[in-house]
Amino acid sequence: MCRPEFFTVSYTINPWMQPANPTDTAKAVAQWQKLYDTYLELGHEVHLIDPIDGLPDMVYTANGGFLIDNVAYGAKFRFQERVPEGPAFMEWFAANGFEVAEPVMVNEGEGDFLLVGDVILAGRGFRSTDDSHRELRDVFGKEVVSLTLVDPRFYHLDTAIAVLDPVQGAGGVDHANIAYLPLAFDEASQRILLERFPDAIQVSDEDGSVFGLNSSSDGLNVIISPRAKGFEAQLRERGYNPVMVDLSELLLGGGGIKCCTLELRR
Ligand code: ARG
Repeated sequence: MCRPEFFTVSYTINPWMQPANPTDTAKAVAQWQKLYDTYLELGHEVHLIDPIDGLPDMVYTANGGFLIDNVAYGAKFRFQERVPEGPAFMEWFAANGFEVAEPVMVNEGEGDFLLVGDVILAGRGFRSTDDSHRELRDVFGKEVVSLTLVDPRFYHLDTAIAVLDPVQGAGGVDHANIAYLPLAFDEASQRILLERFPDAIQVSDEDGSVFGLNSSSDGLNVIISPRAKGFEAQLRERGYNPVMVDLSELLLGGGGIKCCTLELRR
């Protein structure tokens, strides 16, 4: 995670960002702190990367790379404003014992790549390119399933899909499940999701539109926005434990709980 000490909205690279509206950095830090504390209370280990003045989007660490089995595939940002974040994250990965795979293709890390069981779901349409999906397959040697995003409000895959069971089941049985927002995808991708995840939770447009899916799960506790009321009920029905954390200030930059979290898979 990255404390949003320099958070503000000074440019527009997604429809949520309105530089004319004022932001409150202290409020962003306080809300972020709540998420940080929640992870610790749930027994998770959290590492911090130092924020850099002039890189207000660095708080959205999910975009800083994608890590599996101690290998960190670095990010190469689509927009100039965020390009310097790429090397900053890669330096951190190297300094913290990860093997770094330098990216050649434009990709925004775990914003667009989600590990579900042993398969990587990869978003395209707004940020990460098809070429990066191929690069991702080469780096990790895993199956990569490309999904096409079509609504500019849901420009990263992690705004439209939540991985509910990050770990593969015992005995090699893949029971990993997801929740998703159908309207964020084109028809072909909706078909793929239906086929692959027949038991998935489909969230309402209402819950999707308040960034309900931009959540983080350890397989039991799912940290979600308090505004995603329907999703909260769906999670309870399935036996998950929804934990509410409000990141309204960070939503002004177009990010939520998952965006502020990068998983470090050793
Ligand atoms: N302002 C940031 C951007 O547009 C927000 C990134 C949100 N991160 C995410 N994982 N969806 O790039």
